[in-house]
Amino acid sequence: PLVRVMLTVNGKPENLTLDARTTLLDMAREHLKLTGSKKGCDHGQCGACTMIVEGRRVNSCLSLAVMHDGDTITTIEGLGTPDKLHPMQAAFVRHDGYQCGYCTPGQIVSAVAMLEEVRSGAPSFVSPDLEHAEYSDTEVRERMSGNLCRCAAYPNIVAAIGDVHA
Ligand code: FES
Repeated sequence: PLVRVMLTVNGKPENLTLDARTTLLDMAREHLKLTGSKKGCDHGQCGACTMIVEGRRVNSCLSLAVMHDGDTITTIEGLGTPDKLHPMQAAFVRHDGYQCGYCTPGQIVSAVAMLEEVRSGAPSFVSPDLEHAEYSDTEVRERMSGNLCRCAAYPNIVAAIGDVHA
């Protein structure tokens, strides 16, 4: 069946009629032509499809668009432009935080939301007894563990994220 979905994507209101089975990822890529979010595994394992939904990181391949009626969504296209990169995008460029680049949009979207989690005082994964998140490379690796990089550019990804946080 077809369903109507109204949501805000990268600050723009969208009013779509979709097959009820359409994922958030396919909605972005096929219907809105926002192809920055990648389909790596389509099973919630790689993080290449990460979007920020109502302030939280979501694997968009696992979520149906119809579940997000009324939600506010940010994709990589909403973070910066070629002329004015988001600070996280600029840091990834500075630190070569990629090799093939396929996972990069998901890495950057995830990193931006992850730093917001840290700033908002989300408990540390590595040291849960700490009242506020401990910010270390170990903590970053743990918080970014949902985003895989087949090229294993992890040291540079962690360095880029640390540069933005510093
Ligand atoms: Fe969604 Fe891999 S494509 S987690």
